[in-house]
Amino acid sequence: MIIKNIGSLCGILPEGVARKCGAEMDKVECLENAWLKVDDGRIIDFGMMDSCPAPEEKHCDGDGCHHDGGCQGGGGHCGGGGCHGGGGCHGGGCHNHDGEEVVDAAGGFVLPAFCDSHSHIVYAGSREGEFLDKLRGLSYEEIAARGGGILNSADRLHECPEEELYAQSLDRVQEMMSFGSGAIEIKSGYGLSTEDELKMLRVIRRIKASVPAQIKATFLGAHAVPRGMSRDEYVDKIISEMLPLVGEEELADYVDVFCDKGFFTSEDTARILEAAAKYGLRPKIHANELAVSGGVQVGVQHDALSVDHLERTTDAEIEALKGSATMPVMLPGSSFFLGLPYGRARDFISAGLPLALASDYNPGSSPSGDMRFVMALGCIKMRMTPAEAFNACTINGAYAMGVEKEVGSITRGKRANLIITWPLPSLTQIVYQYRKPFIRWILL
Ligand code: NIG
Ligand code: FE
Repeated sequence: MIIKNIGSLCGILPEGVARKCGAEMDKVECLENAWLKVDDGRIIDFGMMDSCPAPEEKHCDGDGCHHDGGCQGGGGHCGGGGCHGGGGCHGGGCHNHDGEEVVDAAGGFVLPAFCDSHSHIVYAGSREGEFLDKLRGLSYEEIAARGGGILNSADRLHECPEEELYAQSLDRVQEMMSFGSGAIEIKSGYGLSTEDELKMLRVIRRIKASVPAQIKATFLGAHAVPRGMSRDEYVDKIISEMLPLVGEEELADYVDVFCDKGFFTSEDTARILEAAAKYGLRPKIHANELAVSGGVQVGVQHDALSVDHLERTTDAEIEALKGSATMPVMLPGSSFFLGLPYGRARDFISAGLPLALASDYNPGSSPSGDMRFVMALGCIKMRMTPAEAFNACTINGAYAMGVEKEVGSITRGKRANLIITWPLPSLTQIVYQYRKPFIRWILL
Protein backbone atom coordinates (compact mmCIF):
# COMPACT_ATOMS: atom_id res chain seq x y z
CA MET A 1 0.00 0.00 0.00
CA ILE A 2 1.19 3.50 -0.74
CA ILE A 3 -0.24 6.49 1.08
CA LYS A 4 0.35 9.59 -1.01
CA ASN A 5 -0.26 13.34 -0.66
CA ILE A 6 0.44 13.30 3.05
CA GLY A 7 0.26 16.90 4.29
CA SER A 8 2.82 16.10 6.99
CA LEU A 9 4.30 12.77 7.98
CA CYS A 10 4.98 13.30 11.69
CA GLY A 11 6.97 11.42 14.30
CA ILE A 12 9.80 10.20 12.07
CA LEU A 13 12.67 8.66 14.02
CA PRO A 14 15.76 6.76 12.94
CA GLU A 15 15.98 3.13 13.96
CA GLY A 16 17.20 2.61 17.50
CA VAL A 17 15.71 5.64 19.25
CA ALA A 18 14.00 4.07 22.26
CA ARG A 19 12.67 7.18 23.98
CA LYS A 20 12.98 10.96 24.08
CA CYS A 21 14.33 12.81 27.11
CA GLY A 22 14.34 16.43 28.27
CA ALA A 23 14.67 19.04 25.51
CA GLU A 24 14.47 16.30 22.82
CA MET A 25 10.82 15.90 23.72
CA ASP A 26 9.99 19.26 22.19
CA LYS A 27 10.97 18.08 18.70
CA VAL A 28 8.75 16.18 16.30
CA GLU A 29 10.49 15.26 13.06
CA CYS A 30 8.13 15.71 10.11
CA LEU A 31 8.24 15.51 6.33
CA GLU A 32 5.83 17.76 4.44
CA ASN A 33 4.07 16.64 1.28
CA ALA A 34 5.10 13.04 1.66
CA TRP A 35 4.34 9.45 0.72
CA LEU A 36 4.68 6.31 2.77
CA LYS A 37 4.80 2.70 1.64
CA VAL A 38 3.45 -0.17 3.72
CA ASP A 39 4.01 -3.84 3.03
CA ASP A 40 2.76 -6.73 5.09
CA GLY A 41 1.75 -4.37 7.88
CA ARG A 42 5.20 -2.74 8.12
CA ILE A 43 6.52 0.69 7.12
CA ILE A 44 8.81 -0.03 4.16
CA ASP A 45 9.80 3.43 3.02
CA PHE A 46 8.73 7.06 2.82
CA GLY A 47 9.81 10.23 1.09
CA MET A 48 8.72 13.48 -0.54
CA MET A 49 5.95 13.47 -3.12
CA ASP A 50 8.32 14.52 -5.93
CA SER A 51 9.99 11.14 -5.48
CA CYS A 52 6.78 9.15 -5.02
CA PRO A 53 7.22 5.64 -6.43
CA ALA A 54 3.48 4.98 -6.67
CA PRO A 55 2.43 3.62 -10.02
CA GLU A 56 -0.30 5.59 -11.67
CA GLU A 57 -3.57 5.30 -9.92
CA LYS A 58 -6.24 3.39 -11.75
CA HIS A 59 -9.74 4.75 -11.96
CA CYS A 60 -12.17 2.96 -9.79
CA ASP A 61 -14.32 1.57 -12.54
CA GLY A 62 -13.01 -1.91 -13.05
CA ASP A 63 -11.99 -4.98 -11.14
CA GLY A 64 -10.32 -4.78 -7.82
CA CYS A 65 -11.72 -1.41 -6.83
CA HIS A 66 -13.45 -0.93 -3.59
CA HIS A 67 -15.79 2.00 -3.63
CA ASP A 68 -17.52 1.48 -0.42
CA GLY A 69 -14.85 2.19 2.09
CA GLY A 70 -14.78 -1.27 3.52
CA CYS A 71 -12.01 -0.40 5.92
CA GLN A 72 -13.83 -1.00 9.17
CA GLY A 73 -12.74 -4.05 11.03
CA GLY A 74 -10.37 -5.82 8.75
CA GLY A 75 -11.60 -5.48 5.22
CA GLY A 76 -8.16 -6.52 4.04
CA HIS A 77 -7.02 -3.14 2.80
CA CYS A 78 -5.20 -2.02 5.81
CA GLY A 79 -1.81 -3.53 6.20
CA GLY A 80 -1.67 -6.07 8.98
CA GLY A 81 -5.01 -6.71 10.43
CA GLY A 82 -7.68 -4.19 9.84
CA CYS A 83 -8.54 -0.59 9.84
CA HIS A 84 -10.73 1.22 12.26
CA GLY A 85 -12.27 4.18 10.63
CA GLY A 86 -13.38 7.20 12.51
CA GLY A 87 -15.31 8.49 9.57
CA GLY A 88 -14.85 5.69 7.07
CA CYS A 89 -12.62 5.23 4.10
CA HIS A 90 -13.52 8.11 1.88
CA GLY A 91 -11.85 7.89 -1.44
CA GLY A 92 -9.07 5.46 -0.55
CA GLY A 93 -8.82 1.83 -1.36
CA CYS A 94 -8.20 1.60 -5.10
CA HIS A 95 -5.98 -1.24 -6.25
CA ASN A 96 -3.65 -0.61 -9.15
CA HIS A 97 -2.45 -3.27 -11.60
CA ASP A 98 0.31 -4.51 -9.34
CA GLY A 99 -2.17 -5.25 -6.62
CA GLU A 100 -0.78 -2.25 -4.77
CA GLU A 101 -3.25 0.01 -3.12
CA VAL A 102 -2.90 3.76 -3.41
CA VAL A 103 -4.50 5.77 -0.67
CA ASP A 104 -4.77 9.50 -1.17
CA ALA A 105 -4.32 11.25 2.17
CA ALA A 106 -5.38 14.46 0.40
CA GLY A 107 -3.32 16.67 2.68
CA GLY A 108 -4.15 14.84 5.88
CA PHE A 109 -1.32 14.13 8.33
CA VAL A 110 0.02 10.65 9.01
CA LEU A 111 1.03 9.97 12.61
CA PRO A 112 2.10 6.90 14.53
CA ALA A 113 -0.92 5.55 16.44
CA PHE A 114 -0.97 6.40 20.15
CA CYS A 115 0.70 4.05 22.63
CA ASP A 116 -1.36 3.87 25.83
CA SER A 117 0.95 2.30 28.40
CA HIS A 118 -1.43 2.19 31.39
CA SER A 119 -5.03 0.95 31.45
CA HIS A 120 -7.43 -1.14 33.51
CA ILE A 121 -10.07 -1.86 30.87
CA VAL A 122 -10.90 -5.40 31.94
CA TYR A 123 -13.73 -4.70 34.37
CA ALA A 124 -17.39 -5.59 34.73
CA GLY A 125 -20.19 -3.05 34.67
CA SER A 126 -19.36 0.45 35.84
CA ARG A 127 -19.08 2.59 38.98
CA GLU A 128 -21.62 5.23 38.08
CA GLY A 129 -23.05 5.18 41.61
CA GLU A 130 -19.69 6.22 43.03
CA PHE A 131 -19.47 8.93 40.43
CA LEU A 132 -22.62 10.41 41.92
CA ASP A 133 -21.10 10.10 45.44
CA LYS A 134 -18.05 11.91 44.15
CA LEU A 135 -20.23 14.69 42.75
CA ARG A 136 -21.77 15.00 46.21
CA GLY A 137 -18.30 15.65 47.60
CA LEU A 138 -16.79 12.31 48.69
CA SER A 139 -13.10 11.80 47.87
CA TYR A 140 -11.59 8.75 46.13
CA GLU A 141 -10.19 7.60 49.49
CA GLU A 142 -13.52 8.07 51.28
CA ILE A 143 -15.33 6.09 48.61
CA ALA A 144 -12.72 3.31 48.88
CA ALA A 145 -12.98 3.31 52.71
CA ARG A 146 -16.76 2.70 52.42
CA GLY A 147 -16.14 -0.51 50.46
CA GLY A 148 -16.45 1.21 47.13
CA GLY A 149 -13.63 1.68 44.69
CA ILE A 150 -11.50 -1.27 43.67
CA LEU A 151 -13.38 -3.67 46.01
CA ASN A 152 -16.66 -2.71 44.36
CA SER A 153 -15.18 -3.55 40.95
CA ALA A 154 -13.81 -6.83 42.36
CA ASP A 155 -17.32 -7.85 43.51
CA ARG A 156 -18.76 -7.14 40.08
CA LEU A 157 -15.96 -8.93 38.30
CA HIS A 158 -16.39 -11.98 40.55
CA GLU A 159 -20.04 -12.25 39.50
CA CYS A 160 -19.31 -11.75 35.81
CA PRO A 161 -18.80 -14.85 33.62
CA GLU A 162 -15.51 -14.87 31.70
CA GLU A 163 -17.24 -14.69 28.33
CA GLU A 164 -19.21 -11.60 29.32
CA LEU A 165 -16.08 -9.99 30.80
CA TYR A 166 -14.29 -10.61 27.52
CA ALA A 167 -17.13 -9.04 25.52
CA GLN A 168 -17.26 -5.92 27.68
CA SER A 169 -13.47 -5.52 27.66
CA LEU A 170 -13.13 -6.07 23.93
CA ASP A 171 -15.69 -3.35 23.40
CA ARG A 172 -13.48 -0.92 25.36
CA VAL A 173 -10.38 -1.91 23.41
CA GLN A 174 -12.26 -1.26 20.19
CA GLU A 175 -13.32 2.12 21.53
CA MET A 176 -9.66 2.93 22.34
CA MET A 177 -8.55 1.89 18.86
CA SER A 178 -11.24 4.09 17.35
CA PHE A 179 -9.67 7.00 19.29
CA GLY A 180 -6.30 6.23 17.70
CA SER A 181 -4.55 3.87 20.11
CA GLY A 182 -2.47 1.20 18.38
CA ALA A 183 -0.72 -0.21 21.45
CA ILE A 184 -2.42 -0.74 24.80
CA GLU A 185 -1.20 -2.08 28.13
CA ILE A 186 -3.91 -3.75 30.22
CA LYS A 187 -3.70 -4.63 33.92
CA SER A 188 -5.40 -7.21 36.08
CA GLY A 189 -6.22 -6.09 39.63
CA TYR A 190 -10.00 -6.31 39.97
CA GLY A 191 -9.80 -10.03 40.80
CA LEU A 192 -7.99 -9.97 44.16
CA SER A 193 -8.42 -13.75 44.36
CA THR A 194 -6.27 -16.26 42.52
CA GLU A 195 -9.17 -17.47 40.43
CA ASP A 196 -10.40 -14.02 39.44
CA GLU A 197 -6.95 -12.56 38.76
CA LEU A 198 -6.30 -15.48 36.39
CA LYS A 199 -9.71 -14.92 34.81
CA MET A 200 -8.72 -11.31 34.06
CA LEU A 201 -5.35 -12.30 32.63
CA ARG A 202 -6.96 -14.94 30.41
CA VAL A 203 -9.33 -12.29 29.10
CA ILE A 204 -6.34 -10.05 28.29
CA ARG A 205 -4.66 -12.98 26.50
CA ARG A 206 -7.78 -13.45 24.36
CA ILE A 207 -7.88 -9.74 23.56
CA LYS A 208 -4.20 -9.94 22.53
CA ALA A 209 -5.09 -12.64 20.04
CA SER A 210 -8.13 -10.92 18.62
CA VAL A 211 -7.23 -7.27 17.96
CA PRO A 212 -4.66 -5.70 15.62
CA ALA A 213 -3.37 -3.32 18.32
CA GLN A 214 -0.25 -4.38 20.27
CA ILE A 215 -1.38 -5.55 23.71
CA LYS A 216 0.75 -6.06 26.83
CA ALA A 217 -0.56 -7.68 30.03
CA THR A 218 0.38 -6.61 33.56
CA PHE A 219 -0.34 -8.61 36.71
CA LEU A 220 -1.64 -6.19 39.36
CA GLY A 221 -2.75 -8.61 42.08
CA ALA A 222 -1.55 -5.98 44.61
CA HIS A 223 -4.19 -3.42 43.65
CA ALA A 224 -6.11 -3.52 46.97
CA VAL A 225 -6.36 -5.84 49.98
CA PRO A 226 -9.48 -8.01 49.65
CA ARG A 227 -12.01 -8.15 52.52
CA GLY A 228 -11.33 -10.63 55.31
CA MET A 229 -7.54 -10.66 54.94
CA SER A 230 -4.71 -8.66 56.42
CA ARG A 231 -2.31 -6.90 54.10
CA ASP A 232 0.50 -9.26 55.10
CA GLU A 233 -1.64 -12.31 54.44
CA TYR A 234 -2.59 -11.02 51.02
CA VAL A 235 1.00 -10.14 50.04
CA ASP A 236 2.01 -13.67 51.11
CA LYS A 237 -0.75 -15.09 48.94
CA ILE A 238 0.33 -13.04 45.93
CA ILE A 239 3.89 -14.29 46.33
CA SER A 240 3.26 -17.92 47.15
CA GLU A 241 0.12 -18.66 45.15
CA MET A 242 -0.65 -16.13 42.43
CA LEU A 243 2.78 -15.27 41.01
CA PRO A 244 3.82 -18.91 40.43
CA LEU A 245 0.64 -19.55 38.43
CA VAL A 246 0.92 -16.31 36.47
CA GLY A 247 4.58 -17.12 35.77
CA GLU A 248 4.04 -20.76 34.78
CA GLU A 249 1.17 -19.98 32.46
CA GLU A 250 3.02 -16.95 31.06
CA LEU A 251 -0.10 -14.88 31.52
CA ALA A 252 1.65 -11.54 32.12
CA ASP A 253 4.43 -9.45 30.63
CA TYR A 254 4.85 -7.16 33.65
CA VAL A 255 4.04 -6.86 37.36
CA ASP A 256 2.49 -3.87 39.10
CA VAL A 257 1.80 -2.84 42.71
CA PHE A 258 -0.40 0.02 43.93
CA CYS A 259 2.29 1.48 46.20
CA ASP A 260 0.38 4.23 47.93
CA LYS A 261 -1.16 5.45 51.16
CA GLY A 262 -3.88 3.05 52.33
CA PHE A 263 -2.90 0.37 49.81
CA PHE A 264 0.60 -1.23 49.76
CA THR A 265 3.83 0.00 51.35
CA SER A 266 7.21 0.23 49.66
CA GLU A 267 8.29 -2.81 51.74
CA ASP A 268 5.33 -4.84 50.41
CA THR A 269 6.21 -3.61 46.95
CA ALA A 270 9.86 -4.67 47.22
CA ARG A 271 8.83 -8.17 48.38
CA ILE A 272 6.43 -8.60 45.46
CA LEU A 273 8.91 -7.26 42.90
CA GLU A 274 11.65 -9.59 44.12
CA ALA A 275 9.33 -12.57 43.83
CA ALA A 276 8.11 -11.46 40.39
CA ALA A 277 11.68 -11.08 39.09
CA LYS A 278 12.05 -14.87 39.38
CA TYR A 279 9.43 -15.16 36.64
CA GLY A 280 11.06 -12.50 34.50
CA LEU A 281 8.31 -9.95 35.21
CA ARG A 282 9.62 -6.40 35.05
CA PRO A 283 7.81 -3.85 37.25
CA LYS A 284 5.47 -1.06 36.24
CA ILE A 285 4.48 0.64 39.48
CA HIS A 286 1.52 2.73 40.64
CA ALA A 287 3.26 5.35 42.75
CA ASN A 288 2.63 8.71 44.40
CA GLU A 289 -1.00 9.19 43.43
CA LEU A 290 -2.42 9.75 46.90
CA ALA A 291 0.77 10.52 48.84
CA VAL A 292 4.55 10.59 48.50
CA SER A 293 4.80 6.81 48.82
CA GLY A 294 8.36 5.72 48.16
CA GLY A 295 7.04 3.90 45.12
CA VAL A 296 9.27 5.75 42.67
CA GLN A 297 12.43 4.85 44.59
CA VAL A 298 11.47 1.21 45.04
CA GLY A 299 10.58 1.03 41.35
CA VAL A 300 13.90 2.49 40.23
CA GLN A 301 15.78 0.14 42.60
CA HIS A 302 14.08 -2.81 40.92
CA ASP A 303 14.70 -1.53 37.39
CA ALA A 304 11.03 -0.78 36.76
CA LEU A 305 10.09 -0.19 33.17
CA SER A 306 7.84 2.62 34.38
CA VAL A 307 6.57 4.40 37.48
CA ASP A 308 3.09 5.77 36.96
CA HIS A 309 0.73 8.43 38.36
CA LEU A 310 3.21 10.77 40.14
CA GLU A 311 0.59 13.36 41.09
CA ARG A 312 2.51 13.90 44.35
CA THR A 313 6.23 14.10 43.87
CA THR A 314 9.08 15.97 45.47
CA ASP A 315 12.50 16.72 44.05
CA ALA A 316 13.70 13.45 45.60
CA GLU A 317 11.62 11.47 43.06
CA ILE A 318 13.08 13.48 40.19
CA GLU A 319 16.59 12.80 41.50
CA ALA A 320 15.84 9.09 41.91
CA LEU A 321 14.78 8.82 38.26
CA LYS A 322 17.86 10.54 36.82
CA GLY A 323 20.18 8.09 35.10
CA SER A 324 17.66 5.23 35.34
CA ALA A 325 16.00 3.21 32.58
CA THR A 326 12.61 3.82 34.23
CA MET A 327 10.03 5.88 32.34
CA PRO A 328 7.94 8.25 34.46
CA VAL A 329 4.32 8.10 33.29
CA MET A 330 1.73 10.73 34.19
CA LEU A 331 -2.02 10.11 33.96
CA PRO A 332 -3.72 13.50 33.66
CA GLY A 333 -7.10 11.85 33.00
CA SER A 334 -7.24 10.74 36.65
CA SER A 335 -6.15 14.17 37.93
CA PHE A 336 -8.96 15.62 35.82
CA PHE A 337 -11.61 13.15 36.96
CA LEU A 338 -10.65 13.02 40.65
CA GLY A 339 -9.65 16.66 41.04
CA LEU A 340 -6.11 15.69 42.07
CA PRO A 341 -3.05 17.84 41.44
CA TYR A 342 -1.50 17.38 37.99
CA GLY A 343 1.99 15.92 37.70
CA ARG A 344 4.99 18.24 37.53
CA ALA A 345 5.66 17.62 33.87
CA ARG A 346 7.71 20.79 33.37
CA ASP A 347 10.03 19.98 36.26
CA PHE A 348 10.58 16.42 35.02
CA ILE A 349 11.36 17.57 31.48
CA SER A 350 13.59 20.42 32.66
CA ALA A 351 15.54 17.89 34.70
CA GLY A 352 16.32 16.09 31.44
CA LEU A 353 13.99 13.17 32.17
CA PRO A 354 11.77 11.44 29.64
CA LEU A 355 8.01 11.51 30.25
CA ALA A 356 5.10 9.44 28.95
CA LEU A 357 1.39 10.11 29.26
CA ALA A 358 -1.29 7.41 29.42
CA SER A 359 -5.04 7.20 29.86
CA ASP A 360 -5.36 5.04 33.02
CA TYR A 361 -8.75 4.05 31.55
CA ASN A 362 -10.62 2.47 34.49
CA PRO A 363 -14.09 2.67 36.05
CA GLY A 364 -13.06 4.60 39.19
CA SER A 365 -10.57 7.31 38.43
CA SER A 366 -10.43 7.74 34.66
CA PRO A 367 -13.37 6.41 32.68
CA SER A 368 -11.94 7.44 29.30
CA GLY A 369 -9.39 5.94 26.95
CA ASP A 370 -9.08 8.91 24.63
CA MET A 371 -5.36 9.60 24.23
CA ARG A 372 -5.99 12.77 22.28
CA PHE A 373 -7.77 14.18 25.34
CA VAL A 374 -4.80 13.01 27.46
CA MET A 375 -2.52 14.97 25.12
CA ALA A 376 -4.74 18.03 25.47
CA LEU A 377 -4.68 17.79 29.28
CA GLY A 378 -0.89 17.45 29.15
CA CYS A 379 -0.76 20.75 27.30
CA ILE A 380 -3.57 22.71 28.92
CA LYS A 381 -3.12 21.54 32.53
CA MET A 382 0.54 20.55 32.68
CA ARG A 383 1.97 23.17 30.31
CA MET A 384 3.57 20.64 28.00
CA THR A 385 4.10 21.75 24.43
CA PRO A 386 2.07 19.90 21.77
CA ALA A 387 5.33 18.30 20.57
CA GLU A 388 6.16 17.08 24.09
CA ALA A 389 2.66 15.70 24.55
CA PHE A 390 2.85 13.96 21.16
CA ASN A 391 6.16 12.28 22.04
CA ALA A 392 4.78 11.40 25.48
CA CYS A 393 1.82 9.60 23.85
CA THR A 394 3.79 7.84 21.08
CA ILE A 395 7.48 6.85 21.38
CA ASN A 396 7.71 7.33 25.17
CA GLY A 397 4.42 5.49 25.68
CA ALA A 398 5.79 2.67 23.55
CA TYR A 399 8.93 2.53 25.74
CA ALA A 400 6.81 2.46 28.91
CA MET A 401 5.17 -0.76 27.70
CA GLY A 402 8.23 -2.31 26.04
CA VAL A 403 7.08 -2.07 22.42
CA GLU A 404 9.33 0.77 21.22
CA LYS A 405 11.10 -1.47 18.70
CA GLU A 406 7.76 -2.21 17.03
CA VAL A 407 5.66 0.95 17.22
CA GLY A 408 5.58 4.56 18.45
CA SER A 409 7.25 6.32 15.50
CA ILE A 410 7.50 6.49 11.73
CA THR A 411 10.53 4.27 11.26
CA ARG A 412 11.35 1.86 8.43
CA GLY A 413 10.63 -1.68 9.62
CA LYS A 414 8.22 -0.73 12.39
CA ARG A 415 4.60 -1.82 12.29
CA ALA A 416 2.39 0.47 10.24
CA ASN A 417 0.14 1.37 13.19
CA LEU A 418 -0.93 4.72 11.84
CA ILE A 419 -3.46 7.51 12.17
CA ILE A 420 -4.41 9.33 8.97
CA THR A 421 -6.00 12.65 9.84
CA TRP A 422 -8.27 15.03 8.01
CA PRO A 423 -6.26 17.95 6.58
CA LEU A 424 -4.76 19.97 9.44
CA PRO A 425 -2.98 23.33 9.59
CA SER A 426 -0.49 21.92 12.13
CA LEU A 427 0.01 19.25 14.77
CA THR A 428 -0.95 21.84 17.41
CA GLN A 429 -4.48 21.81 15.99
CA ILE A 430 -5.27 18.40 17.50
CA VAL A 431 -4.79 19.70 21.04
CA TYR A 432 -5.99 23.24 20.40
CA GLN A 433 -9.36 22.21 18.96
CA TYR A 434 -9.38 19.25 21.26
CA ARG A 435 -12.93 18.11 20.52
CA LYS A 436 -12.89 18.56 16.75
CA PRO A 437 -12.81 15.15 15.02
CA PHE A 438 -9.37 14.71 13.45
CA ILE A 439 -9.07 11.01 12.63
CA ARG A 440 -9.97 10.00 9.11
CA TRP A 441 -8.59 6.42 9.19
CA ILE A 442 -6.72 4.25 11.57
CA LEU A 443 -4.46 1.58 10.11
CA LEU A 444 -3.53 -1.24 12.48
O1 NIG B 1 -4.70 3.92 38.43
N1 NIG B 1 -4.89 4.01 41.55
C1 NIG B 1 -5.10 2.82 41.44
N2 NIG B 1 -5.72 2.20 40.46
C2 NIG B 1 -6.47 2.83 39.45
C3 NIG B 1 -7.86 3.11 39.85
C4 NIG B 1 -8.55 1.92 40.18
C5 NIG B 1 -9.99 2.12 40.47
O2 NIG B 1 -10.40 3.08 41.13
O3 NIG B 1 -10.73 1.25 40.02
C6 NIG B 1 -5.77 4.07 38.98
O4 NIG B 1 -6.25 5.18 39.14
FE1 FE C 1 -3.89 2.84 37.16
